[in-house]
Amino acid sequence: MPLRDPLFQRVAIIGLGLIGGSLASAIRKNSLALEVVGTDLRKEDLVLGQSLGVIDTIADSTAEAVRGADLVVLAVPVQATRKVLEEIRPHLAADVLLTDVGSTKSGFVKDVEAVFGEFSTRIIPGHPIAGSERSGIRAANPDMFTHHKVILTPPDNVSAPHLKKLRALWEACGATVLTMSVAYHDEVLAATSHLPHLIAFSLVDTLAGEDENMDIFRYAAGGFRDFTRIAASDPVMWHDIFLSNRDAVLRVIDHFTRDLDQLRTAIADQDGATLLRVFSRAKAAREHFSKMLSGQAYVTNNSENQVTFRLQPGGSVTGDIRVPGDKSMSHRSIMLGALAEGITEVKGFLEGEDSLATLQAFRDMGVTIEGPDNGFVRIHGVGMHGLQPPRGPIYLGNSGTGMRLFTGLLAAQPFESELTGDASLSVRPMNRVAEPLRSMGAVIDTAEGGRPPLKIRGSKDKKLVGIHYDMPVASAQVKSCLLLAGLYAEGTTSITEPAPTRDHTERMLAGFGYKVERDGPTASVTGGGKLTANAIDVPADISSAAFFLVAASIAPDSDLILRHVGMNPTRVGVINILQQMGANIEIMDEREIGGEPVADLRVRSAELKGIEIPEVQVPLAIDEFPALFIAATCATGRTVLTGAEELRVKESDRIQVMADGLAALGVKTEVTEDGIIIEGGQAIKSGSVHSHSDHRIAMSFAVASLRATGEIEIIDCANVATSFPGFVELAQQTGIKISAEEAKAGVEQGAD
Ligand code: S3P
Repeated sequence: MPLRDPLFQRVAIIGLGLIGGSLASAIRKNSLALEVVGTDLRKEDLVLGQSLGVIDTIADSTAEAVRGADLVVLAVPVQATRKVLEEIRPHLAADVLLTDVGSTKSGFVKDVEAVFGEFSTRIIPGHPIAGSERSGIRAANPDMFTHHKVILTPPDNVSAPHLKKLRALWEACGATVLTMSVAYHDEVLAATSHLPHLIAFSLVDTLAGEDENMDIFRYAAGGFRDFTRIAASDPVMWHDIFLSNRDAVLRVIDHFTRDLDQLRTAIADQDGATLLRVFSRAKAAREHFSKMLSGQAYVTNNSENQVTFRLQPGGSVTGDIRVPGDKSMSHRSIMLGALAEGITEVKGFLEGEDSLATLQAFRDMGVTIEGPDNGFVRIHGVGMHGLQPPRGPIYLGNSGTGMRLFTGLLAAQPFESELTGDASLSVRPMNRVAEPLRSMGAVIDTAEGGRPPLKIRGSKDKKLVGIHYDMPVASAQVKSCLLLAGLYAEGTTSITEPAPTRDHTERMLAGFGYKVERDGPTASVTGGGKLTANAIDVPADISSAAFFLVAASIAPDSDLILRHVGMNPTRVGVINILQQMGANIEIMDEREIGGEPVADLRVRSAELKGIEIPEVQVPLAIDEFPALFIAATCATGRTVLTGAEELRVKESDRIQVMADGLAALGVKTEVTEDGIIIEGGQAIKSGSVHSHSDHRIAMSFAVASLRATGEIEIIDCANVATSFPGFVELAQQTGIKISAEEAKAGVEQGAD
């Protein structure tokens, strides 16, 4: 059948091995060329290729293959590249696009320069990260590149139309295309592909040479099989790859040898702590393999996952549930546990992306952390001065709390560090911590406008000095940042807050045996003390409970119990405000656990009424306003919020984003500089809402569905995982009619 506008007229594939054959058949399957011509030294493979439908036409020589071709793909062993280039050069069409699929790129570039004199703008080196331990045309598979990455390393002056066409070709074969420099490609591949192959070849060879080799192979368990699968790869191809990527491979072998030697020493010395540290760090890294491959730290880059919530209207909210652990306390439990002397055990830890990022950051600084396993974490504290410099930037995902608290802690360390985050975190203000820390003597560089990334130039020659700081905004993050820095500073660091903010840092420091003075609105610590390991029981997060407090209040016939909710007086604004609006919330079995008040809450449907929210409640309910705006929409009468400009610099501008979302559902509001006015009693209609990657916006609109008149779609909900893993399931369990659709941008690695 004639093709309409194929990408290429005639594609010449030189070398019909596994990759060349797979690409040829992918091009044919996806109708990307009028004709696919193949050539190979193994004539019988050509005949087979044609009979299998991998190629259209057989060419008897490389010269014949490339004549008239507008795309030429070299898929030969890398050591054969130069010879093939010499053969084809005189026969190439003027406008031909030339590419390859080799596993090393600097060798290809050298060969091109040797044969062509210079690097043409139409030669684009390529490398599909796909393969199999099987080789040859018989293993060719047109779907081999689907969901795999293809790396292109175009020259600086590449012809843009040619690059565009090559990218389109690979994408049409199902691949994701990345571009990078030749040198970077070779470094990355040396580590992620070449070294593992070398180790697999070497290990199998070593064991095959042992006297008991028959038994070793006979009893080989799954681990051995998995680990050495790639030792069955093509020896000729791999011999080529190592010779051609010599320098990068040598560097990574040296690095690996040093680390292996360290493990040998640890075993010889019965040094279990080192083994545990390395193994648990590696386990975490392995679990987050795909994220590491895409250049991220181990936490999820949620922006890669597109999650949409879909909600059917109505329902009532019932049951007996416990929401996940408190985010603020989870961060702090890891931080103080890591700096303590001894082993800290944490129960109820929030396994959300934000607190996991904090946990990973400490692993990266040499702290052994076991778990998390169903909310249980065991931290092997390294003491106040035991952190090691991280090997690279610390990625904190979406977490403002993480970044602000780390800044204080790292400013006091004797090493340099860098803090980075996702798109939302990268636009959040950090001068609020950088400036007071600088007056303590810290050296911190920010990006323009005081934004992340933050480069923290800690040094062993310079100690921080205590200051007194009058906080211009009521922020627990700023207070906690300075208290953490103050643990290391000379003298006393004191912070006065304009209004009470959450005091988990102060309480937890006291629990770890560190004295915190409190004098009215001022908290202070004196540097030079130490922390002693402690057991921590993290209560359920009142900020997560808030969605259900509102849900059960607004939905008719609701009756819900929330267990073990943290009731710290600096956090209960949401209950105070809802009760003032007429909510029916019963506080049961109040108790104190590990220095924090906890209670069970029973919520039943109620007729809510609009109120003027007292400004003193604002810092005490700072994270709960998105949910409270939904309550206000369902109340009778007007709700007025003032003094809440801080909401504009949270994970999103929560005043504007909520107003926009409500407007999309037909609810009118009046946005003011520091708050919002909501006339209650308006109908919540069907519509599509954008959460702007803000977890609390997404969950609030999910709750709104209980009183909506039609279906609600909420876009961009992946970040719900930062604070509330399992939200969808728990919401369903209570009666909210929610479903989630997920489109994953996964990364997979083949054998090559
Ligand atoms: C937090 C403090 C609050 C809050 C955040 C957690 C903390 O931020 O919004 O979710 O754990 O210290 P601010 O200190 O910026 O108000």
